Amino acid sequence: MLDRWVWCSPFAVRVTVTRAATVWLRVSQGCSMLRKLLKVTLAGSIGMLALVLAQTETVKADDKDKKADKKLTTKQIMGIGHKGADALFGKVQTAVKAKKWEDAVEPAKELAANGSLFPKATPPKGDAKSWEDLAGKYADNTKALSDAVEKKDADAAAKAGKAIGSSCGACHKAHKP
Ligand code: HEC
Repeated sequence: MLDRWVWCSPFAVRVTVTRAATVWLRVSQGCSMLRKLLKVTLAGSIGMLALVLAQTETVKADDKDKKADKKLTTKQIMGIGHKGADALFGKVQTAVKAKKWEDAVEPAKELAANGSLFPKATPPKGDAKSWEDLAGKYADNTKALSDAVEKKDADAAAKAGKAIGSSCGACHKAHKP
């Protein structure tokens, strides 16, 4: 009698819940209601847990998608940065020479953002070590240009612009088909 009372009391419920499945199986036969309740609760908890986990997975997948969006190919980075009259580097250089700093800020930022992605992109040819080195320098130079523009530092901007402008040939020779 005492046994049954203990197991069926709310206290037993608490014990059962905290010590999980092994304990709740030991609940005496007379407590079938309690056991049913626990089963439902347990099933509910597992269901909730599964739901939470599933949502976490979805969030992770979304993060991955966002990162994938930011992945540009070497061709895209070069095209946006250096191809045609509308290219970022040309815009920055023109604005810097005219000391129109406000016109230089946005394209310089984008050039640097793409530059930071350059080392992570895979070039169509050439060995990995050389790419790490040259693409790393491109990332540094475009960042230096953006920083200089931000500070309206004409000397630093000219220096960084020159470094980028004189880096094309060597990299193309090694990595552009
Ligand atoms: C760190 C290496 C590197 C540097 C520095 C570099 N490039 Fe490139 N560039 C490449 C690679 C690699 C390609 C080939 C991309 C491809 O086809 O996937 C390329 C392709 C190009 C293209 C062709 C894009 C297209 O749409 O086909 C142009 C234009 C270009 N570069 C201009 C320049 C100019 C101008 C500079 C210097 C101001 C420069 N690049 C500096 C690596 C570099």
